[in-house]
Amino acid sequence: MEESPFPFQGPLDARHVQGRDDLVGDLIERVTARRVTALLGPRRFGKTSILHRVGAELEDAGTTVVHVDLYEVSSTADLAVRLDHALASVRGPALDRLHHFISAGEINLGFVKLMFSRRGSDQPDALAVVHHLLDGLVTAAQNTPMLVVFDEFGGIDRVDGAAGLLRTKLQHHVRDVGLIFAGSQLSLMRAMFTDVARPFYGQAELVDVGPLTPRALRQIVDHGFRSTDRDPGNLASSLIEFTGGHPQRSMQLADAAWRHAVPDEPFRADLWGIALDHVRRQTDMANETLFAHSQANDQKLLRLVSNGEPIFGAAAAVIGLTAGSGQSSRDRLVDQGEIMRAGNAWRVVDPVYADWIRRRFPL
Ligand SMILES: Nc1ncnc2c1ncn2[C@@H]1O[C@H](COP(=O)(O)OP(=O)(O)OP(=O)(O)O)[C@@H](O)[C@H]1O
Ligand SMILES: [Mg+2]
Repeated sequence: MEESPFPFQGPLDARHVQGRDDLVGDLIERVTARRVTALLGPRRFGKTSILHRVGAELEDAGTTVVHVDLYEVSSTADLAVRLDHALASVRGPALDRLHHFISAGEINLGFVKLMFSRRGSDQPDALAVVHHLLDGLVTAAQNTPMLVVFDEFGGIDRVDGAAGLLRTKLQHHVRDVGLIFAGSQLSLMRAMFTDVARPFYGQAELVDVGPLTPRALRQIVDHGFRSTDRDPGNLASSLIEFTGGHPQRSMQLADAAWRHAVPDEPFRADLWGIALDHVRRQTDMANETLFAHSQANDQKLLRLVSNGEPIFGAAAAVIGLTAGSGQSSRDRLVDQGEIMRAGNAWRVVDPVYADWIRRRFPL
């Protein structure tokens, strides 16, 4: 089967990342200048994909890249496993030094998870393992340029003392190691770097990942169609208007349209409608479940925002949302990355979810 030019599940390979050249360039410059950076963006806005591209470009230039995924990390042992996984995947010049250092502590890179599955007194001390892996990391960075990415960095907040430990290990090496922290829990991420009481206070410059620009999206859609002998017509315009540049939803809709487009035939006017229908059918149940699990006031707020109504006003009064409840729901939903600012108004981050809410609860 022909491969779709619009993958929409999981992060993209570096070579598939389009429309992010400025951001990628900026991040490479920051890493090179050793300016510690925190990359913030809602879920599925392409953070990990961007980091893959940054990593690949720096790797080509001789940098060793370590990508640590802290998504929902749950304990010190789990943190050790994540670090081990990241270090075991390292390629390039730092590899020998790294293995040498780590094995001196009687740890085999790539086997930490196995060590923790031993019984009773054979179990290693998780904290000691984390210490040793981090020491290995900074030691390896002393002789060779290195980028360390902590993806889903907000996860570290769930492990007591872990952020402090990381800070302690890294603080004397910010000249040796390029550091990028990425995360989607926006207020948590902001707090981690701007709250005086937290270990990483003032340690990083914050950079936002926004939606894809209309221009970038048009290029991606048109090129994906043309390079596979399909006519994109004016699909990009409908798509951009609907998604507002949400990367993953844009790709999902483009993929649906692409699957219904016949090679070497002229663009059909109903293609957008078909694609939208297809994606709605794929996602209706999940959206319904998501909505059903929201608090009652959050549901009301989502209804207002999806329908383009102000949070405080006549429409809010009609559905019974008081100003106080509206405010706390708004703050909570911003925290959770479900809504975001768009100019003077608010927008539901996921356009497909917003569309479901509008269809289900027209105001
Ligand atoms: N530059 C891009 N061009 C086109 N589509 C993109 C781009 N970046 C991301 N996407 C789309 O978004 C999807 C999710 O990307 P990615 O996993 O990198 O996002 P993320 O912000 O890391 O998400 P998560 O919050 O789930 O970790 C990709 O599968 C792809 O469909
Ligand atoms: Mg990601």
